[in-house]
Amino acid sequence: MLHYAVVKALRYHRFGPAAEVLRWEDAPDPRPRRGEIRVRVHAAGVNPKDVLTRKGKLGPLVRGFPQRSGQDLAGVVDAVGPRVKSLRVGEPVFGMIGGMGSGAVAELAVIRADHAALAPRSASMVEAAAVPLAGMTALQALRDHLRLGPGDTLALNGASGGVGVFAIQIAKILGARVVAVCSARNEDFVRELGADEVLPYDEAPLVERDRRFDAVFDTFGTAPFAKARRVIAPGGRYVTAIPRPDSLARGLASRVVPGLEAHLVLVQSRTRDLTLLGQWIDDGKLRCVVDRVWPADQAAQAHEHVETRRARGKVVLEIPGA
Ligand SMILES: NC(=O)c1ccc[n+]([C@@H]2O[C@H](COP(=O)([O-])OP(=O)(O)OC[C@H]3O[C@@H](n4cnc5c(N)ncnc54)[C@H](OP(=O)(O)O)[C@@H]3O)[C@@H](O)[C@H]2O)c1
Repeated sequence: MLHYAVVKALRYHRFGPAAEVLRWEDAPDPRPRRGEIRVRVHAAGVNPKDVLTRKGKLGPLVRGFPQRSGQDLAGVVDAVGPRVKSLRVGEPVFGMIGGMGSGAVAELAVIRADHAALAPRSASMVEAAAVPLAGMTALQALRDHLRLGPGDTLALNGASGGVGVFAIQIAKILGARVVAVCSARNEDFVRELGADEVLPYDEAPLVERDRRFDAVFDTFGTAPFAKARRVIAPGGRYVTAIPRPDSLARGLASRVVPGLEAHLVLVQSRTRDLTLLGQWIDDGKLRCVVDRVWPADQAAQAHEHVETRRARGKVVLEIPGA
């Protein structure tokens, strides 16, 4: 394995506003340990979680400085640690550094081999880097929590965002009818991705509609279960991506609200889910929707764009010189 004296990485030495704290700077060369690979990163996705982490909103889960930023990456395997059999040096991969790990926005990043997969052949590195966190969140929410299938009508709140653009397409692949909730300006955009119907939230929020759906997925937070239950049909299912105290307790809801199921999705990084998403991309069933791309040394602008909460699809950073 080659050792590099230093590599460039996106880091911060205190929590705070993006423009003040994010630095594209020299950092130690990361070394893969047992079960890990080192990736020469070409592109890295930016997610709201990276923003929350950098602002210090995840409390004691993030300790010590400097902190490295980013979980989603696409690149080429540069080295493998002991006991890695699934991936080899030189292979193009994409993945999500799982749990509270970070460090994807760097020239070299270390990731568990079982949190990565071969990158889809038909996608660029920028497109592949847009997929892991948001794509797996949508997949796990719809397939595992909602058990979505043909005949179901899904109401999808936040349909034009990073998770939403994958959720529309995956719900269609699973055979459901999709009712997308987004602002009126994004109506054509979500229809083009497969939405069957659009309910602009600027006319009325989902939870105030006089409708019933088999399944509701709240990716934005304005349809918490306590309000959304009135738009869920008897026997229907609910899932949210927003881990607030009320949604953490929401697993109990299925016991206190007979006939309704409620879940919180907490995305898990898994090779098999990445492989499935990559297969759908290569089969032409799933599109990677990239809103904007910045070079990693201008990451503050990318974070600020994500913070507007108006991104259309995904925001991605390209590693200079990769
Ligand atoms: N629990 C987990 O494992 C997990 C995993 C992934 C994400 N998340 C969380 O899920 C949330 C969504 O992530 P994301 O990447 O999709 O975020 P995002 O890309 O920042 O979402 C932006 C989208 O939100 C839409 N939006 C803004 N105001 C809205 C409203 N009032 N009602 C409905 N939609 C609205 C915007 O649409 P318009 O421009 O049309 O307004 C925009 O397209 C974040 O809070 C993130 O932290 C959790």
